[in-house]
Amino acid sequence: MCGISAIASHRAVADNLLQCLQNLEYRGYDSCGMAIFDGRQIKLRKNVGNVEEVNAAERFKEMQGHIGIAHTRWATHGEVNAANSHPHASNSNEFVVVHNGIFSNYQVLKGQLEAKGYQFFSKTDTEIFANVMEETFKEVGDLELAFRQAVQKMEGSYAIALLSTKDPQRIYAVKKDSPLVIGLSDGANYVASDINAFISETRDTILLEDYEYAILDSAGYQVKRVVDGSASPKQVIRVQWDRQTAQRGGFSHYMLKEIFDQPQTVRSALNIDSRQIETFAEKITQKSRNFCVGVGTTYYVAMIGSYLFKRYADLYVPAISSDEFPSLIPLDEDMHVLFFSQSGETYDTRMAVDAAQKGGAATSAIVNVVGSSISRQVEDCIFQGSGPEICVVSTKAALSQVILLWQIALAVGLKRNQLALKEATRIRDELSRFANSMEQILNEESGFVRQLALQTNKVQNWLFMGKDIYYPIALESALKMKEVTYLHAEGLPAGFLKHGTLAMVDENLYCLFFLPHPSEGGLYRSSLSAMEEVKARKGKVITFCSADNQEAQELADHVFILPSQATAESNPLMQMILAQLFSYYSALHLGLNIDKPRNLAKSVTVG
Ligand code: F6R
Repeated sequence: MCGISAIASHRAVADNLLQCLQNLEYRGYDSCGMAIFDGRQIKLRKNVGNVEEVNAAERFKEMQGHIGIAHTRWATHGEVNAANSHPHASNSNEFVVVHNGIFSNYQVLKGQLEAKGYQFFSKTDTEIFANVMEETFKEVGDLELAFRQAVQKMEGSYAIALLSTKDPQRIYAVKKDSPLVIGLSDGANYVASDINAFISETRDTILLEDYEYAILDSAGYQVKRVVDGSASPKQVIRVQWDRQTAQRGGFSHYMLKEIFDQPQTVRSALNIDSRQIETFAEKITQKSRNFCVGVGTTYYVAMIGSYLFKRYADLYVPAISSDEFPSLIPLDEDMHVLFFSQSGETYDTRMAVDAAQKGGAATSAIVNVVGSSISRQVEDCIFQGSGPEICVVSTKAALSQVILLWQIALAVGLKRNQLALKEATRIRDELSRFANSMEQILNEESGFVRQLALQTNKVQNWLFMGKDIYYPIALESALKMKEVTYLHAEGLPAGFLKHGTLAMVDENLYCLFFLPHPSEGGLYRSSLSAMEEVKARKGKVITFCSADNQEAQELADHVFILPSQATAESNPLMQMILAQLFSYYSALHLGLNIDKPRNLAKSVTVG
């Protein structure tokens, strides 16, 4: 994930900024750069490669000046090249910015700026903001006001640091849905994506909230609100983490950090340029046969997609596991295959793309890693912008793919006249609300999930069950459990119970039921019946429901309480993240190597 650092200091900053870049390397990146005000103008150096390589080529340390901004880029818009790496300068070179996140309206703003004669030298959304700043400054003639107004023109998620010749002693920084922290020390103040950037210099930090901006110079700082420029009083926090803990954002493992990253990554997925969603929907609508393909977790994502296409577009889009795809699917030119891959390098999925293309099928993909093999192989690719996933097991990348699929399914539903625009808008709003309620769930339920994981620590066999869309969620959740705890956890459709599985139910068997929302009528009731079948044979039942759902609570031995605002749309997603947490805490109590489970690799590039 991209990393921002900025310093305003009494002393030369190049060495210190370089150190900040190195400190943020752990976040994952493909290029880096730095901009420093040398007393007359802003000098900018950047390139592709790791910090050491780029420093060797660009000689950052030779840059002169007491104030500067720097960035490690993890590509989300535009390929990995020097032009796309940060910082980005406006046409006059007077406004230079670094940015994390995605501006969802950058194409519209780009068109407006082009009409005014602005030129663009990269494929990034960030360069648009540099020029929006320049144009806004021309209009209002005051840097702080221009910054506030320019920020209000931007939609999407962002953390930004700005350096400008119009006020070259100060750094301007702002955030929305992307983290930004301030570091305070004697004679130098910092802004960064996380405290690792400056932890060797200071542990005194201030956390910026959404729609707050900071102005810093070497002697002090102010924090204000974007909406009206009013002061926002902040508390200085002294962080006590060691370096390793700090790299995980204070979390004990990357898996936990990545679970907690999800509100942000879901928002990024919701902010993806709607034209990309349209392109995919168009392709799906045009072809007579469509398939969703992935392997492991991404196969389960593909399965979730099948339910969404049926639900919103009345379209059957089968999900096939990448490894089975070549032997299973007859190919022709009137078909389209949508692939899913976090890494973009998975061998089985690459082979499936090869097979599809050889058979004349149209191909597209949702991929997390820009520049990866699969993203280059397919004709159309959406980069999900979830940031690097470091834990071997996939959490945030999978959920983001589901959110993207949701939007594609809605768009296909509209095109096929299976869905009214009003209903599609309601569902989209619901997904946005889910991004916010996720924070509440993660914060409020963690304690209980941890406790239950401790209580069930001796359980050896798990069945994870669900119906409809809850079935692939049960499969995915069982996979998570297997991966991190090494226990037997089997995912299956709840309807299978009486067709065989009931034979193994006794008082030692624990069943986790993914329960539909009560508003889902028959689906909800038949899932409750399946729970009853297990209870009648003394099996243990754990499920998910809201606090006012008495019948589910009476039936189950344990219940994960969902917020009352859960709806048919957010209900399965809330259960998915709680199941991730449950696997995490189960493995934690077992003392296992959660981020690197035995026998597994993050990117399976061989067959
Ligand atoms: C499960 C997991 C794997 C991957 C699978 C595909 O937690 O991480 O099952 O989902 O290996 O990997 P990508 O998505 O990189 O193609």
